[in-house]
Amino acid sequence: MSAAERERWDARWRQRAAADALAPAPARFLVEHADRLPRAGRALDVAGGAGRHAIWLARRGLAVTLLDVSEVGLALAATRAAAAGVTVDVVAVDLDDAPAPSGPFDVIVIVHFLHRGRRDEIAATLAPGGVLVAIQPTMTNLERHARPGPEHLVAEGELATWARAVGLEVEIVREGWNAEGRHETEMVARRPG
Ligand SMILES: C[S@@+](CC[C@H](N)C(=O)[O-])C[C@H]1O[C@@H](n2cnc3c(N)ncnc32)[C@H](O)[C@@H]1O
Repeated sequence: MSAAERERWDARWRQRAAADALAPAPARFLVEHADRLPRAGRALDVAGGAGRHAIWLARRGLAVTLLDVSEVGLALAATRAAAAGVTVDVVAVDLDDAPAPSGPFDVIVIVHFLHRGRRDEIAATLAPGGVLVAIQPTMTNLERHARPGPEHLVAEGELATWARAVGLEVEIVREGWNAEGRHETEMVARRPG
């Protein structure tokens, strides 16, 4: 990732920090399917930004690693985690240049982040029985919103096809316009075992 792109993410998290003192709510889909997630073990929040999912997972009892390229986002996540009385291990990684932390992880969350070049190796760090939750806007989202641009969007059916190709069992996949007005794929998949 270029320095300019990184600065854009840092600026975005600086702006958000000013707007929200507390971490915003985690994605509704994740909360709705909380009963599918273990309450112990290790979790990885991929490109977790300012920590809304990492903190929610840590509060549920998981030992959470949050990776992101934005030092500003990571600092905000660590501060918010401390305010929430939990610890989140924040790791600065640019997935364009370096791999994700090695697992095994019992939970992996990937929300609003698409990296087709890294997702197979990330999925490979899921422990037997481990759960992946992925949420990503689809190309259909362009019918109502110019952003995110196509490079951040999945085709309908893409996430489930990919998950099966890397050996996961797809437990839930939902595609459509959600309550926030975005057209997204929301998926829960599990590594057999
Ligand atoms: C749309 S935000 C989503 C944040 C979080 N998952 C959430 O749902 O709140 C995308 C995140 O991806 C991070 N990101 C973008 N490119 C990245 C890269 N190459 N490596 C690691 N993180 C990256 C950004 O810093 C940003 O925090």
